[in-house]
Amino acid sequence: MSLRILDRPFARHILTKLRARETDQVNFRKNLVRLGRIIGYEIADSLECSEVTVETPLGKARGVLISELDHVVIVNILRAATPLVEGLLKAFPSARQGVVVAKRRESVFESPPEKMDVDIYYSRIPDLKPDDVVIVADPMLATGSTILRALELVYAKGEPKKVFVASVIASHQGVERVLRWGRPVNIFVVEVDPLIDERGYIVPGLGDAGDRAFG
Ligand code: URA
Repeated sequence: MSLRILDRPFARHILTKLRARETDQVNFRKNLVRLGRIIGYEIADSLECSEVTVETPLGKARGVLISELDHVVIVNILRAATPLVEGLLKAFPSARQGVVVAKRRESVFESPPEKMDVDIYYSRIPDLKPDDVVIVADPMLATGSTILRALELVYAKGEPKKVFVASVIASHQGVERVLRWGRPVNIFVVEVDPLIDERGYIVPGLGDAGDRAFG
């Protein structure tokens, strides 16, 4: 169970552009793709690797191989995760993929966030094997309700070796709720914001990621 905040200047620079009210749809999507790539490389760096010797055309060199790269499954929580997944696929081009179509009930936010309900309209996730590494992508980890429903759908497909959540902004409450869930989950996020408003939006956040990405 862990939380990794990618609070380095370049990731934060892109996040700052993403947050800005004046960033238009095309640039919003582009920046989400860029962050997906950065988060993907960061997740790749955390996977198991082994030292190897490689033959070049001119001799032998020492190298590293990350065997877990061959076992990555990315779960796209539609619709806002689509540009983030496009970026993650730069790091994991051969990943198998699943989708979850989820929509939060647009009721007034009730505290605690466990009350925020989510409808799942469709899900299709590949059967999972014990050496699989699953990355569940959702740019906004707000109340945690959507991610937890998606994680339940993941575990219904088998017991993977590792599970990651790839998000751009999380709320403190959402992070705590996912980390308390009881199964091992590694959260990778660029920033954690302090508040959730009465509709379940992260504040200051970036607004509605799906609306901003797709118009
Ligand atoms: N989903 C969004 O798009 N934005 C939020 O702030 C929370 C959930």
